[in-house]
Amino acid sequence: MSNYHIKSLEEYFQVYRKSVNDPELFWSEIAEEHFTWRKHWNNVFSWDFSIPEVKWFEGAELNITENCLDRHLHIRGEKTAIIFEPNDPEEETEYITYNQLHKRVCTFANVLKDEGVKKGDRVCIYLPMIPELAIAVLACARIGAIHSVVFAGFSSTALSTRINDCDAKMVITSDGSFRGKKITNLKGIVDDALKESPGVKTVLVAKRTNNKIKMKKKRDKWLQPLLDSAYTDCSSEVMDAEDPLFILYTSGSTGKPKGMMHTTAGYMVYAGYTFKNVFNYTENDVYWCTADIGWITGHTYIVYGPLLNGATTVMFEGVPSYPDYGRFWQIIEEHKVNQFYTAPTAIRALAKEDLEYTAKYDLSSLKVLGSVGEPINEEAWHWYNENIGKKKSPIVDTWWQTETGGILISPIPYVTPTTPTFATLPLPGIQPALMDSEGKELKGNQVEGNLCVKFPWPAIARTIWGNHDRYRDTYFSAYPGMYFTGDGAMRDEVGYYRITGRVDDVIIVSGHNLGTAPIEDAINEHMEVAESAIVGATHEIKGNSLYGFITLKPSANGKDRDELRLEINRMISERIGPIAKLDKIQFTEGLPKTRSGKIMRRILRKVANKDTNDLGDTSTLLNPEVVKNIINEAL
Ligand code: PRX
Repeated sequence: MSNYHIKSLEEYFQVYRKSVNDPELFWSEIAEEHFTWRKHWNNVFSWDFSIPEVKWFEGAELNITENCLDRHLHIRGEKTAIIFEPNDPEEETEYITYNQLHKRVCTFANVLKDEGVKKGDRVCIYLPMIPELAIAVLACARIGAIHSVVFAGFSSTALSTRINDCDAKMVITSDGSFRGKKITNLKGIVDDALKESPGVKTVLVAKRTNNKIKMKKKRDKWLQPLLDSAYTDCSSEVMDAEDPLFILYTSGSTGKPKGMMHTTAGYMVYAGYTFKNVFNYTENDVYWCTADIGWITGHTYIVYGPLLNGATTVMFEGVPSYPDYGRFWQIIEEHKVNQFYTAPTAIRALAKEDLEYTAKYDLSSLKVLGSVGEPINEEAWHWYNENIGKKKSPIVDTWWQTETGGILISPIPYVTPTTPTFATLPLPGIQPALMDSEGKELKGNQVEGNLCVKFPWPAIARTIWGNHDRYRDTYFSAYPGMYFTGDGAMRDEVGYYRITGRVDDVIIVSGHNLGTAPIEDAINEHMEVAESAIVGATHEIKGNSLYGFITLKPSANGKDRDELRLEINRMISERIGPIAKLDKIQFTEGLPKTRSGKIMRRILRKVANKDTNDLGDTSTLLNPEVVKNIINEAL
């Protein structure tokens, strides 16, 4: 039996049982046999979900970049680590070997040190999908600085909120980004953000688009000259197992974004282990995940997971529609991609296009297809299976979260029989539980409830940066003794899990988590807005779109409604980013409220989804006449 690479269903069940019956032995064998340590741990793990506190491999010392880079050099030094595929197919692809990546990471790490970055400092990375992004992440890890990557589609306000929350002293950015035909001046966005973030002392700027930007004396520095004059050797900082590795922000249903903090050893072991199994990665495969490194998927399954396994990982700068809708399939043919990991929203968008785009390319290299970020609907699953996988590549529908650090529920390809829309079985070490509304665990099969996890796994986030109380309240208070995911799920007659979606006020739009409260806050800042409520409406491609119900102040009388809609969306773009713009805005005279003053979102959800025949229990509704009007005026 191999703990590390599961090859049959029987083996999966054996390994799973072992992981539950003897988690110490299970995880310590994996950690020992497949990773490099400077010092062995004293204790495999300890936990108490009531504090909550979780520790893995306590007492161990290591550096994750030694595991991602150094240890591969004597066997895979000349192997390609990263294939960088630029936005424009006419621009040359860059192949970075493990030797080259090691050198570039070390050089970058020296630049960070030269600029005064020390172990434990936070460094904010706001870069497009260019090699410097992966290199900057690894350079931080090399010297023990905590990276906080912010997706380069976020606005200056969103960026500044994140910089201030973690008190970053440096920002690494570029002059601009290429995405399809669009060039975005990223440095300009950083300049705006820094007006509100005085704690940032240094901005390193990578050159990518050559658009004109402003450089502030002393604060802003071009990266390349610094790299040119830096040493290329850099020994790695020795980190404790529980030293923070990174902070990554995710939306909450209320309040400001949550800086999920992940630590070093547990995250490393889990990222490496799950990558190997879920993608069935074998030496010389070419693996491609289309996510952005600004999200957890990119952290764990573009950078860390693949590199920990000495894999070749593709980084794509562009978008699926440029120069045409065949771009993904062309890249798969060109690089003979074996594992392809993307989001249902991309699959749905591409499935709408002519089949010519897929038929034109040779996709026979594919062995595994992955899906992540939201439930994959049956139609998209079949399209993916038939047209991309040609019914011979298993689809791994991987369920996980920023908070979980790695995949928790997923088929293992060529091992777990797949069923459309089911994430199937928990990976070894993961003990899911479904809870009913009274807080009791639903045992047995054919049940549906709120999805929790009742036992720690190595990559669980350890806290919300600077707010441990919020961490406890959000994840560990609904069901004492359990981690609550915020998702609903059902378990079918064979024990397969199907994720049914969020049960809180987080809406997933095109695979991006959006909390309703921050968007409502942005809207309510508009002078003419009295009150607002956002709900998700089912959308053919995006999964959900945002539908806003907005009550205006009397002062808005006579103002052009379409103009107001534009202004409101502009405000959302500025405060959060274009991904949070509303698809539909319905102005209403009031919002449906309970007698205690809570907005009845359930009713608004029904209106947005044109499903108002049965409104359910409305006995606590304070203002039924408002609801009638809202239904009549629905968009
Ligand atoms: O609702 C679940 C959904 O995405 C949420 C986590 O979002 P985020 O932290 O941004 O991480 C996304 C990438 C890991 C989950 O709570 N989700 C993620 N994967 C799936 C999913 N819903 C259904 N099926 C999935 N495979």
